[in-house]
Amino acid sequence: MRIIGTGSSLPKKIVTNDMLSGFLDTSDEWIVPRTGIRSRHVISDENLEDLAADAALKALDAAGMKPSDIDYFVCSNVVNEYITPGLSCIVAGKIGLSCPCVDINCACPGFIYALDIVESRWKAGKVRNALIVCAEEPTRMTSWQDRATCVLFGDGAGAVVLTGGDNIRGINLHAEPCPDKIWQKRTLEPTPYVTKEEISVPLQMKGREVFRFAVNASTTQVEALLEECGMTKSQVTYYMVHQANARIIEAIKQYMAEPDEKFPSNISDHGNSSSASCAILLDETVRKGLIKKGDILVFSAFGAGLLSAAAIVEW
Ligand code: UT7
Repeated sequence: MRIIGTGSSLPKKIVTNDMLSGFLDTSDEWIVPRTGIRSRHVISDENLEDLAADAALKALDAAGMKPSDIDYFVCSNVVNEYITPGLSCIVAGKIGLSCPCVDINCACPGFIYALDIVESRWKAGKVRNALIVCAEEPTRMTSWQDRATCVLFGDGAGAVVLTGGDNIRGINLHAEPCPDKIWQKRTLEPTPYVTKEEISVPLQMKGREVFRFAVNASTTQVEALLEECGMTKSQVTYYMVHQANARIIEAIKQYMAEPDEKFPSNISDHGNSSSASCAILLDETVRKGLIKKGDILVFSAFGAGLLSAAAIVEW
């Protein structure tokens, strides 16, 4: 397929590190050198589905398409207020889609997993035009008393519209299933028969282990995918790396021995917005006019699961 339109939407509330240190034992001096994050957009009175719909409509507008042109819709989301229906159906209802709607929960690499699904369906001759929306509110997953997690995240939605083409050069998906590295639990409704103890636990993360996984998975996958596609680093215009932590991105950059200007970044004013991160970064880079036809974009993302993914996309 070929990406022909992008969009994004962010909550209006901006929370700075200094605002966090007003109620948490943390500081700008701790957060910036360890993460690169200075502020993040945080949901207040918005609903995630409205941000998702807004991002989708902007992507459709950029693509010059109507909702009725879309015949497959994938929504990437870890959590939102609805358990059912899926966020894809809620967003489809808001923007007037009437095509099949699919939800995936692949955590931070969800954008690339969604690309893989639409590309596979297109190759199977089942899709003409697809919409992907990645919408996340990780600030509703962490405890805001836990300084080790809540400072890292921000909310938002990013979207792309795709049509037929051979611009997705390759995709590489990877899993190292170990659910104790990043996890969160919530209780379900009680029944007369449930006898086990159930508790809600906000997001837990083994930060250092996730850090190592992220750098290792990203560099290994990107190198393997470039080789598989018969390409070299010199052909890459931009590495669109999941915006989880500036130090992770720096470590990847060092390992790849590639220059700063090949790594667009918005972590300083977004934090980690899970699967929305790559889609928002793409939209912002497109709208700044930095991407031109023929440019080669390498996407790389990693997160809970543990899952990771890489994709090479020609613009
Ligand atoms: O999408 C993928 C999602 N996850 C990630 O990308 C996370 C990857 N991991 C990381 O980015 C880093 O591990 C963190 C930024 C999360 C943490 O950095 P770290 O250098 O690994 O710190 P740490 O967790 O080992 O904590 C070091 C110290 C601890 O204090 P003590 O025990 O040494 O006294 C923490 O309590 O820093 C303390 N600390 C903080 N202090 C001030 C942890 N968070 C904070 C904070 N403010 N926000």
